[in-house]
Amino acid sequence: MSKQILILPGDGIGPEIMAEAVKVLNLVNDKYELGFELSFDDLGGAAIDRYGVPLADETLARARAADAILLGAVGGPKWDKIDPSIRPERGLLKIRSQLGLFANLRPAILYPQLADASSLKPEVVAGLDILIVRELTGGIYFGSPRESRVLENGERMAYDTLPYSESEIRRIARVGFDMARVRGSKLCSVDKANVLASSQLWRAVVEEVAKDYPDVELSHMYVDNAAMQLVRAPKQFDVMVTDNMFGDILSDEASMLTGSIGMLPSASLDANNKGMYEPCHGSAPDIAGQGIANPLATILSVSMMLRYSFSQSQAAAAIEQAVSKVLDQGLRTGDIHSVGTTKVGTAAMGDAVVEALRSL
Ligand code: IPM
Ligand code: MG
Repeated sequence: MSKQILILPGDGIGPEIMAEAVKVLNLVNDKYELGFELSFDDLGGAAIDRYGVPLADETLARARAADAILLGAVGGPKWDKIDPSIRPERGLLKIRSQLGLFANLRPAILYPQLADASSLKPEVVAGLDILIVRELTGGIYFGSPRESRVLENGERMAYDTLPYSESEIRRIARVGFDMARVRGSKLCSVDKANVLASSQLWRAVVEEVAKDYPDVELSHMYVDNAAMQLVRAPKQFDVMVTDNMFGDILSDEASMLTGSIGMLPSASLDANNKGMYEPCHGSAPDIAGQGIANPLATILSVSMMLRYSFSQSQAAAAIEQAVSKVLDQGLRTGDIHSVGTTKVGTAAMGDAVVEALRSL
């Protein structure tokens, strides 16, 4: 039976990196006879230009019907002045929440070939393999009320709300524990329980869930300390589980430990492992259209898709091996380039991965 994959290239460098990921996807589709059918649509700024909104109803319907979604990146200066309620990012948040993609997996893995590209000393990051599990459909990103208004004295004020229900915490905690169980059996839950009521509930619920996972070593850390520990001694972490906003921030931080945010894929899953897969980086408008963006995070997102949505671990591993091989060959896009390696553009990097895959 054929499997439907919806491709949403998005904005900025999105279409460029997606073109390379699609080359890789087409090749594994043939090579492993996966029966994927690809269709394309717009999200974010591209959708505003085409449909007048960042996520059109028909696109959402296609996303619901698809077996998996592959996304590039959204946003750019062209849409910065637009009404906040239809900003490109709103499309991304809406598709996450409408599809119930509450579990965001963001691995930060250091490829040994890139130890020099990290801003930290090689010995601090060598062998780094962290998984950040970020809650993606709750918390301050979606809480209401939220408001921006002018007070009677003429001063402007605005506020957001950070709500978490016990069931929202429990289901993401379970994902954290389940992931820890198949990795290094260590879970660090990150919160701000010394200040926030939502974090106090978070910690209490995580403790309750822990009773079902006696084999996983649980620790708790305040988010400010976690941000510091990630650059001091990142290898102390195996799996980290945290809320939407803390996860947004810590995953960007963790990405730089690996040399470049241009290397990091992510998966956003619902309760049945239906997923949307996207690079952790944004649309990078400053380098869009130049053919120099790193396509590896998107290519590795294809690998995550094969693993989590289609249980095709062999094809997934092949993509990872192909990426490792092109790094061995010394090929680097600008973001991971260092002395003694060969600088290549987006398409050349994609072609090299395709070539490496073919010859595996
Ligand atoms: C991310 C991004 C998004 C987020 C933006 C683009 C809305 O930073 O996926 O990490 O904050 O979730
Ligand atoms: Mg982010």
